[in-house]
Amino acid sequence: MKRFAHIEARRSPIHGLGVFALQPLPAGMQIIEYTGRRERWALHKHKRSSHTEIFHLSPTHIINPVEGGSIARYINHSCAPNCEAIQEEDRIFIYALRDIRPGEELFYDYGLILGRRFTREDVRLHFCRCGAPRCRGTMLAVPPHRRAQVRRWVRAMRAETK
Ligand SMILES: C[S@@+](CC[C@H](N)C(=O)[O-])C[C@H]1O[C@@H](n2cnc3c(N)ncnc32)[C@H](O)[C@@H]1O
Ligand SMILES: [Zn+2]
Repeated sequence: MKRFAHIEARRSPIHGLGVFALQPLPAGMQIIEYTGRRERWALHKHKRSSHTEIFHLSPTHIINPVEGGSIARYINHSCAPNCEAIQEEDRIFIYALRDIRPGEELFYDYGLILGRRFTREDVRLHFCRCGAPRCRGTMLAVPPHRRAQVRRWVRAMRAETK
C-alpha cells in the first residue's frame, strides 16, 4: 500500500484502523483518493453483508478497495466529520472540511443509503460510536421524517449496552 507523508493508517479509538493526519491539513485540501476496482453492485452485493467496505459510485456501480485500495478505505465515520467524500466523474476524493491538526483522526459522514427502507436492525448493524456530542447513533443517512424514530431506537440501544 502506498505510504504518504501527510496521513497514516493506525489503530483508532473509534474502531479498528483509522486514518490520522501527520501534518496540518488545510480546509479544502484534497487529502487522498478512494481507489479500488470498479464493480457492478449487482454482482458484489451477494458477497458481503456490509455496505461500509465499499464506496457506492452510483446505484449500479461501486469501488471495491480490496484491489488497488488506498488507505482511504480505513477512514472511519463521524456524525461531526472533518472531511467529506466528493465524487468527481467516476472517482472519489476525500477533502478537508476544516483545518485539521497533526494527530487528529480523519472522518467523513458515510451517510449510508441501503436502497430500501431501513429497519431498527439496520440501525443496530450500523451503530455509530463516533462520540460526537450530536452523534445520530448510526452510520446510515437518516431523512428528516425518520429522525425522531431513530433517536428513540438509538436511546434504547444505548441503554441496553450500559
Ligand atoms: C471502511 S471501514 C473503516 C476502517 C475500519 N476501522 C477498519 O479497521 O477496517 C468501515 C467499518 O469501520 C467501522 N466504523 C467506522 N466508523 C465507525 C463509527 N463511527 N462507529 C462504529 N464503527 C465504525 C464499522 O465496522 C464499519 O463497517
Ligand atoms: Zn456518530
